[in-house]
Amino acid sequence: MQPIETERLVIRTLGLDDWPEVFAYAADPEVMKFIPEKPYTPEATMAFAADNPVVDGLPSKFAVTLKPDGRLIGTLTLHLINSRFRCREIGWVFHPAYHGQGYAGEAALALLRHAFAEGNIRRVVATCDPRNTASWRIMEGLGFRREGHFLRDVRLADGGWHDEYFYAILDEEWAARVGGGK
Ligand SMILES: CC(C)(COP(=O)(O)OP(=O)(O)OC[C@H]1O[C@@H](n2cnc3c(N)ncnc32)[C@H](O)[C@@H]1OP(=O)(O)O)[C@@H](O)C(=O)NCCC(=O)NCCS
Repeated sequence: MQPIETERLVIRTLGLDDWPEVFAYAADPEVMKFIPEKPYTPEATMAFAADNPVVDGLPSKFAVTLKPDGRLIGTLTLHLINSRFRCREIGWVFHPAYHGQGYAGEAALALLRHAFAEGNIRRVVATCDPRNTASWRIMEGLGFRREGHFLRDVRLADGGWHDEYFYAILDEEWAARVGGGK
């Protein structure tokens, strides 16, 4: 995939070489507290960065880098969860030094623009813990609809069972939103 440029960012395919920059934040329990996976070990980070299947020309994982120096500040995922129904799930994890500056929203908007235009996608879903306000605000800002509130269905690193919001957006909703989906 050709890198996608926004005003401040370049979004490109994630690869194994990116693992140390991902590890710099994915090992942080605070960053991972709403994510069902445990904070990453070096081995888990390498496996995450290396496993990046491309389907319909679209990778599953993306590095989000800052324009001036190419520094990796976060990752976006767009996993294929059902090929027959052309459905993917989007996710975002960013380095805490770069939170609260609109980077995740900016990156996700650009990726979805590209993915709906080029990636043979009908529906994109997204989930998060209801306490993760930054995450569901991004979903709503992008036009995702809240389709459900699941009760105590996810086990987090604290060992407890927690609720989950479920959001989705269809290709026609995206097209109506951004004007033709391009
Ligand atoms: C979720 C995450 C990617 C958001 O990244 P970000 O770059 O800080 O997000 P943005 O700056 O684009 O902000 C998104 C929205 O959340 C709001 N927001 C940001 N941080 C917030 C916070 N701590 N509390 C409440 N709202 C917050 C912003 O105001 C913005 O809302 P708006 O568009 O309505 O103004 C980032 O916090 C993160 O990496 N968290 C740890 C990993 C994680 O939980 N990933 C999601 C799993 S579902």
